[in-house]
Amino acid sequence: MEKTLQNLKDAFAGESQTNRRYLAFAARAEEEGYPMVARLFRALAAAETVHAMNFLNALQVVKSTPENLEEALAGEMAAFEERYPVMGATARQEGHRQAEQSFTWAQGAEKSHGRLLEKAWKDPKAGLIADLFVCNLCGYVVEGAPPDTCPVCQATQPHFRRVD
Ligand code: FE2
Ligand code: FE2
Ligand code: FE2
Repeated sequence: MEKTLQNLKDAFAGESQTNRRYLAFAARAEEEGYPMVARLFRALAAAETVHAMNFLNALQVVKSTPENLEEALAGEMAAFEERYPVMGATARQEGHRQAEQSFTWAQGAEKSHGRLLEKAWKDPKAGLIADLFVCNLCGYVVEGAPPDTCPVCQATQPHFRRVD
């Protein structure tokens, strides 16, 4: 049983990563002029998501919404306050500029995630009532309307998409 629980965690992590990898492969295939290969990677990405969710369900770790909001808030705050600042500093020391920027952008975006999660956690039914927009460069999330420029990465308004 204990071995199986670890296997489920490993399988969930692996399938989750394969999903994102395949979506990146699909985007590259589109750029390189292989539309059917792109479609195949999108189909396989969707299938790997099915596997990931089946493993996650078997783990039985998804709790109630108030508990999930609390867990998510704690994770976002840890990323904002500790994980990404440390990773960003290491990237700067090691001269990996693209990594440094990705950590800095993620850090700024996680702060916005934390703020919204806190609002939702305080009032899960009515804490958030407006539209939500995501910056597709850095992952900053904003309620209401998209800004002229992203406060985290300075992307212009067309980079924001509304989430259903
Ligand atoms: Fe799979
Ligand atoms: Fe986040
Ligand atoms: Fe952004």
